[in-house]
Amino acid sequence: MLKRLKGKSKLFAITISSSLLYSGFTFDLASAETEYLPRVQKSQTSTIQKNAPYLADAASIDRVIRAMTLEEKAKFVVGVGMPGISRGPFEITGAVGGTYGVPRLGIPELRLADGPAGLRIRPTRPGQNQTYFATAFPIATSLASTWDTAVAEAVGEAQGNEVKEYGIDLFLAPALDIQRNPLNGRNFEYYSEDPLISGKMAASFVNGIQSNGVGATIKHFAANNQETNRMIIDTIVSQRALREIYLKGFEIAVKESSPWAVMSSYNKINGTYASESTDLLTTVLRKDWGYKGFVMTDWFAGKDPVEQMKAGNGLIMPGSPKKSNLIRLAVEGGRLNEKILDRNIKNILRIVIQTPEFKKYQNSDQPDLKAHAMLARKAASEGMVLLKNKERALPINKNKKIALFGNTQIETIKGGNGSGDVNAAYTVSIAEGLKEAGYQINQELLSKYKTYIDSLRQQEPYKIKPHPWGEDFGKLAPVIPEKPLQESEITAASKDTDLGIIVIGRNSGEAEDRKVVKGDYLLSDAEQDMISRVTTEYHNQGKKVAVILNIGGPIEVASWRDKVDSILVAWQPGQEAGNAVADVVSGIVNPSGKLTTTFPVKYSDVPSAANFPGTPAENPAKVIYEEGIYVGYRYFTTFGVKPAYEFGYGLSYTDFDISHVQINKGKKFKDKLTISAMVENTGSLPGREVVQVYVSAPDGGLEKPSVELRAFAKTKVLQPNQRQLLHFNLNAKDLASFDEEKSTWVLEKGTYTVKVGASSENIKGSATYTVDHDVIVQKVSDVLKPKVDFKQPTKQ
Ligand code: BGC
Repeated sequence: MLKRLKGKSKLFAITISSSLLYSGFTFDLASAETEYLPRVQKSQTSTIQKNAPYLADAASIDRVIRAMTLEEKAKFVVGVGMPGISRGPFEITGAVGGTYGVPRLGIPELRLADGPAGLRIRPTRPGQNQTYFATAFPIATSLASTWDTAVAEAVGEAQGNEVKEYGIDLFLAPALDIQRNPLNGRNFEYYSEDPLISGKMAASFVNGIQSNGVGATIKHFAANNQETNRMIIDTIVSQRALREIYLKGFEIAVKESSPWAVMSSYNKINGTYASESTDLLTTVLRKDWGYKGFVMTDWFAGKDPVEQMKAGNGLIMPGSPKKSNLIRLAVEGGRLNEKILDRNIKNILRIVIQTPEFKKYQNSDQPDLKAHAMLARKAASEGMVLLKNKERALPINKNKKIALFGNTQIETIKGGNGSGDVNAAYTVSIAEGLKEAGYQINQELLSKYKTYIDSLRQQEPYKIKPHPWGEDFGKLAPVIPEKPLQESEITAASKDTDLGIIVIGRNSGEAEDRKVVKGDYLLSDAEQDMISRVTTEYHNQGKKVAVILNIGGPIEVASWRDKVDSILVAWQPGQEAGNAVADVVSGIVNPSGKLTTTFPVKYSDVPSAANFPGTPAENPAKVIYEEGIYVGYRYFTTFGVKPAYEFGYGLSYTDFDISHVQINKGKKFKDKLTISAMVENTGSLPGREVVQVYVSAPDGGLEKPSVELRAFAKTKVLQPNQRQLLHFNLNAKDLASFDEEKSTWVLEKGTYTVKVGASSENIKGSATYTVDHDVIVQKVSDVLKPKVDFKQPTKQ
């Protein structure tokens, strides 16, 4: 039991009110009463009792575990509760979890808080004037769209600094589940439909975070690709799709960045909760991949804490006294071997000794928010993807006049909702950013939009409210219908300005998936109408119209894209949204982002469309990943389905040529491959190009997708006519496929074609190599097999 602080000690029961129920969570109300105890002060942990076992370093861990009572052990493997649900607030308000401390043994309590677009803590504290805002960076999909791992690392480093300076030990980020289907409400927190991009981005982000001496938590492990019934859904998936698609990114991140923690996911995989799966959390993660950190559950995940302990889930989150009691009773009753507890505790303590809390770091509560805002702006602009730019409608000079259409110009969306939201000090709207950049904005239209939005926000259904999960989760702004446009407004604005910009916005969040309905995946009638009428009027006057998409994931574009001149995907760019958009619109930043997710022509083209979010349709209990390995571009390229904008696609204000694609050291594969390609800026503006290396592998015993991304790189800023030679190193594992019959990664014999290009469909050069005989690259454990047969697509 913690010592309470003299004079400050408080002990009070938290009672659940139904409005606080964390939607999407089911949890046991019996566990919902607990006490609020402040964190043990740093000074308290420093009094070493003579000769007592005390946590000092790695060598002391076994001694400390031996000295722990069973009660202490059972409490230590369970978190201390969730503010607003099963406990009072932490002293760092907005921290979403904490670990149990054992002061007599020198074990401090740790504090955990959410990401991944920035640190989510509450910006104000009772009785204090000081604020605790965190920087809202661009969402993960936007970061990935930079295809620049250095940007991901820099953003991770800045976020890790905020984590550290605000007194948090473990950051619950990054999130790297595969964007299996565009409707997943949480895709904005994830990087890509491709595991290589996901893994590389996550690894760089983790390395950035952990360079501060705080921990990263990669989540949600694994195959957590939808929000509908996320806590119970059974994901039925083949071993090959797991290894090649859904686990691959995690494998890369584990091996290339050693994250301190892994968060197991809510869903079941082939019948077993991920959080209760020894196959996943011990066999794959530790035995096959050599992971050395610890595993925690997602909040309220799974059913049985004893099974979670056995599986290798060291820490049950957010935790409740009831769960520790169950664990203690299981040991006493012989259902759980105490050695399992010891094993799990050891994994956690190895991390505890690295934390700022253990090292008694005095956090400043004053991270450099200004510097981080500049980085957020840079990252956001680097991640924007130019989908269309007819007759170079963009960039537009700052002395020109612009009219802005669409509500989202004012209520620009910085990021998605739920635990991935960030309580930032401000969001620069697109209207503000363009104005600040020096553009003359048509004032009449702007003020009409402002008045319209202000008046609707006064009305009850549109009032901005705290998130139903509580203030810590920020605010929710109900969607306002598009402002109706008078013909006269459009005419006046188009006469007065050089360019029309239409801003379309979409948001989504945790616990709910998006829908193929107007106003969500599809444009609303009002948006379609706005695009038609604004473009007609501007085109009549020989002027152009650009659309800016302030979105967290793909929307339908095929029905309207021909009408407009330019389309810029700004994603949800974080708090510097408007400034970053202005940087790209003005050409200060030449767009160099590329899609890490396919924009289909129609939703039904998506390979998982028939199988999302599962069956039975009204309340899915299981979802079968019938598309197998054919996720995203692997499907579109293999089965000849033309997307609206393909994976890897993105335009620039300049032009590039990619040439001299070569495989060094001969045409026969030995144990590695070096590929080189020359990039030249053949246009008239400085810019950066993303070069993508795809490989077409021969069909042998295993069928292969038409192309798979195997490496990528981004050039430096190239001046017109400047060239850069890029090199890519690939080893056998990078090129192998997974043979589920033999549980091996294998490089099958035959001729492989390396295709280097500017997107998955825009290949600029190729070269071939041969593999003489099948090479067994790695044998892994035969686990996670589906218990039912199901059909997967095949090329034949
Ligand atoms: C989310 C996690 C998050 C946790 C704590 C869960 O609902 O799935 O990503 O870290 O809550 O907020």
